[in-house]
Amino acid sequence: ETGYITLDTGYKNTGSTKSAITFLDGENGILRYRGYPIEQLAEQSTFLEVAYLLIYDKLPTQKELDQFISKITQHTLIHEDMMKFYEGYPSKAHPMGVLASMISALSTFYPESHKSELHPDEVELTIIRLLAKVSTIAAWSYKKSKGFPLMYPQNRLSYTENFLHMMFAQPTEEFKVNPVVANALDTLLILHADHEQNCSASTVRMAGSSHASLYAAISAGVCALWGPLHGGANQQVIEMLQRIQAEGGNVEKMVEKAKDKDSDFRLMGFGHRVYKNFDPRARIIKDVCDKVLNELGIDDPLLDIAKSLEEVALNDSYFVERKLYPNVDFYSGILYRAMNIPTEMFTVMFALGRLPGWIAQWKEMRDNKEPISRPRQIYVGANERDYVPISDR
Ligand code: SDX
Repeated sequence: ETGYITLDTGYKNTGSTKSAITFLDGENGILRYRGYPIEQLAEQSTFLEVAYLLIYDKLPTQKELDQFISKITQHTLIHEDMMKFYEGYPSKAHPMGVLASMISALSTFYPESHKSELHPDEVELTIIRLLAKVSTIAAWSYKKSKGFPLMYPQNRLSYTENFLHMMFAQPTEEFKVNPVVANALDTLLILHADHEQNCSASTVRMAGSSHASLYAAISAGVCALWGPLHGGANQQVIEMLQRIQAEGGNVEKMVEKAKDKDSDFRLMGFGHRVYKNFDPRARIIKDVCDKVLNELGIDDPLLDIAKSLEEVALNDSYFVERKLYPNVDFYSGILYRAMNIPTEMFTVMFALGRLPGWIAQWKEMRDNKEPISRPRQIYVGANERDYVPISDR
């Protein structure tokens, strides 16, 4: 009667993507990268070692890891013409301005050739260049947004020390990276490194399935991460905690607001499409928060607010019935604050951490020679009807 039909246009669930990279068990809160439990990797590994594991499906020997790190270190510089890019880039201060400039900078990278079939050496070079240069682009995009001088990478520093140096050093004074901060950042990057077929990883696989370059596929992934329901959530968590603080710390009021169906407000950093138990990353980050803030002598009231918000929500039937637990974004922003990383950089940090996972997902899809992604649909639009001249409408 509505003139609309549901026509099954051959829509079939072609099943999920087959992948050997990351295992998630949402009911039991289990996360493993290439079979290794996230808790062990966060405790004992390093971000670049985890990147190697995700991309090449093996824990590297010391020689392999040293070579991998050395190649990345040699590629951290970006083309000097990019100075002109940053000079000309509109530096209006906008909460997502840094991410936007990072995406624009990424689009200046493209492979030597546009061939569909990539030579393995070219793939390897692209992987190394991305891991090396995205860190520089991220730090330079931040410096640009603040009008600060850009700091060149220093090959004598480790990956996270180098990033922190490019982020915070000024040419006018000596800058020493705090090892507590560098280690905490390394752990955070490990925890963000991959997460199965999340929105941005699926975007990378889909974009890459047309044989667009890895650079283009990664740019697409960063764009997907932009959304507040995905990568943008960590920034929204801090804004939510600051709002609670400004309103006198009444966490119960915020929990009630999140339950109110008439408002589209959600408790940011809570809930997950897969985890119907604790997100194991949230547990680890919460512990690292306590440890790092203590070591740095920081007493951040937002951490206490977050803990009491978690406690109230986890004792509220609305959240319990819907199995809504803290996710990776709930505590990560508090750690970034302790490192003096500003909120406009939070999604950029998520992208920096997720980069090896996106690369691994793209590589797996290409190595498996997967066909171009072409989802089908269930048509629910108008049945056939004749055109009506405008004079008769
Ligand atoms: C990430 O996929 C990944 O792996 C992502 C990620 C990764 O590492 O890549 O883990 C990173 O994106 C983490 C999620 C960050 N986003 C947020 O924290 C935003 C707040 N969370 C929600 O928007 C939500 O929980 C999602 C988007 C994360 C998941 O949404 P779902 O699975 O689609 O759940 P839903 O929207 O179907 O909600 C189910 C019910 C609804 O209520 P009812 O309709 O049943 O009455 O739960 C409610 C929702 O209203 N609900 C929430 C809620 N999340 C879901 N209510 C209040 N607060 C919330 N946070």
